[in-house]
Amino acid sequence: MSKHPVRFGVWANVHGTLASLSHPDDPVDASWPRVRDQVLLAEKLGFDTTLVAQHTMNPVGEELDQLDAWTAAAALAALTKKIEIIGAIKPSVIHPTILAKQAVGIEEISEGRFSVNVVNAWWKPDLERSGIGMLPHDERYAFGKEWLHVVAKLMSGERVTYHGRYLKLDDFGLRPAPTRRSRPTIYIGGESEPARELAAAEADVLFLNGQAPESAAAFIADVRVRPRGTRPPLRFGMSAFIVAAKTDPEAEELLEYHWQRNSADKAAQGALMERLVRQVDEESAMWKALKHRPHIGPNGGTAAGLVGSFDTVAERIVTWNRLGIETFMLGFQPLESDMTLFAAEVMPRVKRLESLAG
Ligand SMILES: Cc1cc2nc3c(=O)[nH]c(=O)nc-3n(C[C@H](O)[C@H](O)[C@H](O)COP(=O)(O)O)c2cc1C
Repeated sequence: MSKHPVRFGVWANVHGTLASLSHPDDPVDASWPRVRDQVLLAEKLGFDTTLVAQHTMNPVGEELDQLDAWTAAAALAALTKKIEIIGAIKPSVIHPTILAKQAVGIEEISEGRFSVNVVNAWWKPDLERSGIGMLPHDERYAFGKEWLHVVAKLMSGERVTYHGRYLKLDDFGLRPAPTRRSRPTIYIGGESEPARELAAAEADVLFLNGQAPESAAAFIADVRVRPRGTRPPLRFGMSAFIVAAKTDPEAEELLEYHWQRNSADKAAQGALMERLVRQVDEESAMWKALKHRPHIGPNGGTAAGLVGSFDTVAERIVTWNRLGIETFMLGFQPLESDMTLFAAEVMPRVKRLESLAG
């Protein structure tokens, strides 16, 4: 077994949905009450973590609602008791001193359960049309590297003097400093060369997109050998979408239904989909990979292969865990009922397999 037991996560529904826009039992609803109740349910069901993605406009469709990540994360931190809250952030949208201050604040509100997921952006309109501006891919990471270096130190209560290419701080420190642990956990979502380098240098956990085990194993092996100084080894998480049922054929049928919905969406929303294709940064490793990986659900979704009977899905999760994936950030549709089914049927099977393996 992996040194790290499986952790179950769920994407907070801040986009309204990350699967079909026309599922009859899953309204497109990014409202605060929906997300609040979804995360409270996740906590009750035994999910370990939730990821609050960050966009200002909604990349699924600009006319759709998108809940603000950081106000939602702060409120979720106050309402929950056990579940980890991960708030995503694109470095260029906020100065590192302000972001670090907010992170330390939410860490305190949550009593030590807050994490930051640094995402170096792929969707152009949020940055370009707001006037914030979007640097080219690798330079975005060069900025992100300085930004995260400063954020990590500030979140740890250190006083920072830093004169970089993009940032300049003089003897700047945050009070109060975190009281529960040294700092919030740092995640990075990304797969490109600079994402790997940044994760090795500054992060605790690296999130992969859903993909086949062979490519993930090569990816993990590549990142694991990168120097990290005295830090503990990097840990890994992955995005995936669950299609689980009593039997494998039933799950295949459900998957087929998802594909039908996907085609119906394309027929009804063709212009929207075509627009999205023109709005992505072609240099993002995520986009380069995902356009060749047909999938349903968030960030690679079903490409992770978590489709099958409850037993099959549980076995695959354990196999993924042996490859090094600790945190599974999962999507479901319909959201609340499939989360509940997963918690009842798949989570106990995974726990049983883990205990059998010792
Ligand atoms: C689990 C996961 C969560 C992500 N969440 C976000 C997000 O909230 N907002 C965003 O703009 N990008 C998000 N991304 C996209 C990554 O930031 C993306 O990979 C990056 O923008 C492009 O970098 P790359 O070329 O290194 O892949 C996420 C990626 C992963 C794997």
